This record gives sequence, structure tokens and C-alpha cells, in this order.
Amino acid sequence: MKSAIITGTGIYVIPGFKFVQKIVETEYGQALVNLGTQDDFELVFLARHGLEHTTPPHMINYRANLRALDLLGVKQILATNAVGSISREIPPMSLALLTDFMDFTSGRAFTFYDGGNSGLAHTNMDVPYCPVLRKKVLELSPQFNLEIHPEAVYVATNGPRFESPAEIRMFAQLGGDVVGMTGIPEVVLARELGMHYASMAYSINWAAGLEQEMVFVSDQMAELRQLLALLLVNTLKETSGFDCGCEKAVMMMHEPQNQP
Ligand code: HPA
Repeated sequence: MKSAIITGTGIYVIPGFKFVQKIVETEYGQALVNLGTQDDFELVFLARHGLEHTTPPHMINYRANLRALDLLGVKQILATNAVGSISREIPPMSLALLTDFMDFTSGRAFTFYDGGNSGLAHTNMDVPYCPVLRKKVLELSPQFNLEIHPEAVYVATNGPRFESPAEIRMFAQLGGDVVGMTGIPEVVLARELGMHYASMAYSINWAAGLEQEMVFVSDQMAELRQLLALLLVNTLKETSGFDCGCEKAVMMMHEPQNQP
């Protein structure tokens, strides 16, 4: 099954792969992807901020990225999101598999279904992150010596600024565990395309107001990031057969004339 890894801040290399860069043209604009194979395993690697980290969270063309993966035949995606920690249970330097989200972004192109020619659909978000991929990640994680929090609620903010302490207190009261700027609308668009998508958050700081000052520990996480990339590759390689609802999440009300 054609697979993709989408990475965020700090992960620009997937160990063991040689990639060829390709620009994919879509009706939403261009996407830059990296194509690689290992034996007969085909992987598309997409660094959402660009390999030199030049695109800020609110300027990422999420629709072009996801549509490009779709055009390439990708069916399963594992993503990473750098986050700040809200929950005391998920401190900086730790990994957490996302299980749910809250969307506080604004002004982003967040759907393929804009009505008219692009069709009208409501997409089910009752299990936003693929449970089959999540289970496999957890099953394989001990092989890579990685400890993973199995559940976390992701709060998506618009950025590029960080949050204020009052915002973080609000998110904590609402039940948010981690906060980041890039998880939405990516997961939503993947679901609109009927893909299997899961994401691993890795925390690089305490969210605003939780400590005296915001300290970022990403520099100390190089080894962990490499192990994480290996875990994601192996999860995608070893996943076969899905008994989840991801492929049936779209409730179509009016068929698109331009296929998303
Ligand atoms: N807030 C939002 N996004 C982030 C943070 C944060 O504290 N840390 C890393 N990405």
C-alpha cells in the first residue's frame, strides 16, 4: 500500500531512504514531495514547512499537499507534529499519539468540499485518527525503545505566534493536552479523501504560562526524532488490512464535478 510520512518542525530526514524530489501540480497549487523506495515499499515523504523550514504554519498549502498525496495513490499517512505541553502527564521530550482535536485555527482552506463543482459532504470526525495505525505504532514502539502516551487531545492554534497564558489556561480547562499549529486542517483533509491518517505529537516545550519562561528542548531530541522516523516507517511497512471507518468517513450530499 502506498504510504506517506508528513513531518513538521525538526524532522527533515527519514533514515535509510534516498529520495527523489518531485513537484506535483494539483488544482489547489503545487506540492513538493520526496519519493523513495526500500525493497518494494514505496514511501512519499513530505516536509510540511519545506526541507529548509521556510513555510509558516498558516501559509502551508494543506489542500495541495493532501491532494498531491492522493494523486500519487497514497492511502495511509503517519504524521508528526511538534507541540507544546499543556498536560502535566505529557512533559517536553515526550511522545503522544493524537486521539482527538480541537480546532482554533482561522482563515485556512480547510475542506475540499466547498459546494458547487467541488461537491458538498459532511465528514465524520468521531474517530479522527486511524485506530489501526495507532495500534500498530504502539505495538512496535518498544522495538525502538520509545515510550508513547497512547492518547492526547490536540489543540490547533493558528500561529505563527505562540499562545498567551490565558489561552493555555482555557485550553487546559477544555481538556486539551498538547498545542500546535499544523495539525489542522491536515487530518480533516486526509479524512475527506478517505485516507488512513494518524499523528504523533512530540513536545518541545511547556505551553505558555506553565513555567517561568518558555524553554525549547528540540536540540536535545535529535536521537528521539530519528527513532521516531524509524518507528513510523516500520509501522507503515507492517500495516496490512484495515477494519476501521476511515475509508467511509465522508457523508456525500452532492457529488463533486471536480473530483477532490
Ligand atoms: N504552541 C503552539 N505550537 C507549538 C508549541 C506551542 O507551545 N510548541 C511547538 N509548537
